[in-house]
Amino acid sequence: MRVTLFGASGLLGHDLVQQLSGQQLSGEQLTALSSKDADLRDRPRIRQVIHDSRPDWILLSAAYTDVDGCESNRDLAFAVNCEGPIHVAEAARESGSRLMFLSTDYVFDGSNRSPYQTSDPRNPTSVYGMSKARAEERLLEILPEVCIARTSWLFGHGGKCFPATILKLASTRPEISVVNDQRGSPTFTRDLASALVQLCRADARGIVHVTNSGNCTWYEFATEIVCASGLPTKVKPVTTAEFPRPARRPAYSVLSPDSLHAYNIHMPDWEDALRRYLESALAVS
Ligand SMILES: NC(=O)c1ccc[n+]([C@@H]2O[C@H](COP(=O)([O-])OP(=O)(O)OC[C@H]3O[C@@H](n4cnc5c(N)ncnc54)[C@H](OP(=O)(O)O)[C@@H]3O)[C@@H](O)[C@H]2O)c1
Repeated sequence: MRVTLFGASGLLGHDLVQQLSGQQLSGEQLTALSSKDADLRDRPRIRQVIHDSRPDWILLSAAYTDVDGCESNRDLAFAVNCEGPIHVAEAARESGSRLMFLSTDYVFDGSNRSPYQTSDPRNPTSVYGMSKARAEERLLEILPEVCIARTSWLFGHGGKCFPATILKLASTRPEISVVNDQRGSPTFTRDLASALVQLCRADARGIVHVTNSGNCTWYEFATEIVCASGLPTKVKPVTTAEFPRPARRPAYSVLSPDSLHAYNIHMPDWEDALRRYLESALAVS
């Protein structure tokens, strides 16, 4: 399988590179690209790299992921997160490559009280969510066999993430405040990368929800991180209203695993994933 990966230098990209280069002996060929190699906004360059690498699968993990930054940079958000993927989809159609597009739980408004199904209507409340939701709609039109993998609350070793931030804060403060009224599914990029490669092998198409199983609030997530670290820091639950941010986030964005289970792929629960992440994160600190 020949794979071209956009976003190789990102949090998820780091584990996709590990996952795919570990399999090169069994015939995988990986072209791993950061924004310096190919900017998604540069249509001719995107066409060229896809033409030259002739991938069976394109994994499109690259995005402008600063959710609050997107609020004040709407044009950039749509250029990178929507127009960019359109360039990739058009080039994929020309070269006959399959495309897997990474999307987000933030395409939903958070008003559900049970896990979101892939068929639930999109209703994003942030510019980031809108740029991703629009990209999903356009890609499904341009390339009906596209695979859209929606995920949530990523953490991993490839860059900044919530557990790393909490560990840093907890090591310097006696108390930290964390919001307790947003619920979702934390997802370890190592587990996600493995599931995405399995989906490629299974020739997946359409929308698939891919997260670690179970769910929690950010406060519950932080409490688990601090407990596991053995630090004496107190974690205090607060409301989103007490900590206003530029982008509105969904209060509830748990994604149903039914679409993933249809491919007979099952994800470990988030507590188990966090334990494995912390084992290596605490070992190096
Ligand atoms: N992080 C989360 O919690 C989360 C949740 C749900 C969904 N997702 C989705 O999952 C995917 C991976 O997220 P992530 O957290 O791994 O992202 P990330 O760490 O922010 O990495 C972003 C990647 O995109 C590349 N990139 C940024 N702008 C680009 C451009 N104009 N042209 C080409 N490449 C560009 C970056 O390259 P440089 O390093 O060269 O800038 C980097 O490799 C994204 O599609 C994101 O929307 C993430």
